Amino acid sequence: MSKFLHQCVLTHATSKLRAGMNENLKIEHLKSHIDFNFDKNKDYFLYIHVPFCNEFCTFCSFHKQKYEKSICKEYFKSLRDELKQAKSRGFSFNTLYVGGGTPFIDSDELLKTIELAKKLFDIKDVSSESSPNHIDPKDIQRFSGVVDRLSVGVQTFDDELLKKIGRYERYGSSKILQERLSNIAGILPITSLDLIFNMPGQSSQTLLNDIRIAKNLQVEQITTYPLMQSKLIGQSLKESFKTIKNSNEFEFYKIIRDELKEYSMNNAWSFSKSSTKLSDEYTVSESEYIGIGSGAFTYINNQLFINSYDINKYKSMIESGQNSIVAKCSRFTLKESAEYHFLLELFGGCVDISKFNETFKVYLEDTLRFEILALKLCGAVTIKDDKIQPTFFGEFLSAMLMKEFYMGMDNVRHTLREYYK
Ligand SMILES: C[S@@+](CC[C@H](N)C(=O)[O-])C[C@H]1O[C@@H](n2cnc3c(N)ncnc32)[C@H](O)[C@@H]1O
Ligand code: SF4
Repeated sequence: MSKFLHQCVLTHATSKLRAGMNENLKIEHLKSHIDFNFDKNKDYFLYIHVPFCNEFCTFCSFHKQKYEKSICKEYFKSLRDELKQAKSRGFSFNTLYVGGGTPFIDSDELLKTIELAKKLFDIKDVSSESSPNHIDPKDIQRFSGVVDRLSVGVQTFDDELLKKIGRYERYGSSKILQERLSNIAGILPITSLDLIFNMPGQSSQTLLNDIRIAKNLQVEQITTYPLMQSKLIGQSLKESFKTIKNSNEFEFYKIIRDELKEYSMNNAWSFSKSSTKLSDEYTVSESEYIGIGSGAFTYINNQLFINSYDINKYKSMIESGQNSIVAKCSRFTLKESAEYHFLLELFGGCVDISKFNETFKVYLEDTLRFEILALKLCGAVTIKDDKIQPTFFGEFLSAMLMKEFYMGMDNVRHTLREYYK
C-alpha cells in the first residue's frame, strides 16, 4: 500500500480516536465521597504514584511537584495507610507498578512501601520507575528480591538533545548516563531503559546511535516512546526546541524495529532481549487497574476515577479513612469499551477473538465489524485461526493510536491541573 494511503489511514484513525476521547473523557468533579464496586475474587493490577521530582523536564506531563523531604516522607506514610485500607476493603493485587514522578527519590520510604504491599498482598511482580540520578548501585542492591524491573528514563544519549530537554546538567552527559547504567545493569532481574523518538531536531542518525548505545549496555528491556505532544506540554516544548515539528515517525519506527529485530516485542514500542514478559504500566491484558496515591487513575467497570491532585487533600482524605477519589469520567458504552480493549490487545501484538469475546462479553465480529474490516482493507491486520494479528504497518498504527490515547489522558491531567491551580 502506498505511503499516501498509509498516511490517510493514520490521520483518519487518530482523529477519530481524538474526537472520541474528547467526547468521552469529560471530567466530573465530585462534591462528595464515592466508591466503586469491585470483585473481591479478582486479582487487580495496582498502580502507585509518587509525584515528586527534584526538577521538571520540559517534555513531561505526568502529575508531579517539587521534592521536599518532609512532605515526601509524609506522603509515603499516607501511601502505606492507603495500602492497609485497600487490604481491609478486601482488594487483591497480583502486580505492582510504581510510577512517577520519581519513586526512588526517597529509596528508604519506597522500600518500606513496596515491602508492605508485598506483605499485605500476593504480589507476583513489581516494577518501578527511576530517573538516572537515583540509581546508585548500593541503593539498587537493596531492592534485589523486592523489585523485578527497574525502568530508567534516559530519553536520549545525544548530548545536544539532552541539553535541550534540560537533562544534561541534571543527569549528566551521555557518557555519564552510560556509566551509571552499566553500573546497575544486572543487579535486578530486569533493567529497562526508556528512549523517546521523534523529538524536534532528532535525526535518524541520533536515534540509531541511541538504540545502539542502549543495546551495548546489555539492559534486558528497551522502551521507545514516540514523543507525545499534548497541549499540557506544547508551550514548554516550543520553548526548549524553538519548534515542535518533527514528523518522521514512520521512518524512525522503521529504524527502531530494524535495529531491534533480534529482540522480542512486549508491545508495539517495548522490546526485550528475552521473551520474559512483565506487566507494563501501559498494561495490555490487565486493562483494569487500581490507582493509589495523589493523581493516580483507577480504571474499573469501564469507568475512570481520579484521585486528588492536591497532596494535602489526598493526605487528609486518607487520614479520614476514605479513598481519595475527587473526579470521574462517564462510564464507557459497550462499544467504546470494546474499542479501548481492542486497541490495547492490538498494541500488545494479537487479538485472540474467542478470548476477547469471552472476557469482554461482546461479539467482536459484530461490535467492531466496520473497524476490523477497515483495518483489514488497509493492510493493518491479517485474520487467521481466530486471531487478529497486526502487520508491520498495523503495529506502527497501534503505536500511534496508543500515543493519541495517552495524549487524550494528558488532557484529563491538564483539566485537573487547571482545576487545582
Ligand atoms: C513518568 S516518566 C518517569 C521517568 C523518570 N522520572 C525519569 O525522569 O527518568 C516515565 C517515562 O515516560 C516517558 N515520557 C514522559 N513524557 C513523555 C512524552 N511527552 N512523550 C514521550 N514519552 C514521555 C519518558 O520516557 C519517561 O522516562
Ligand atoms: S521525566 Fe521524570 S524527572 Fe522529568 S519531570 Fe517527568 S517524572 Fe519528573
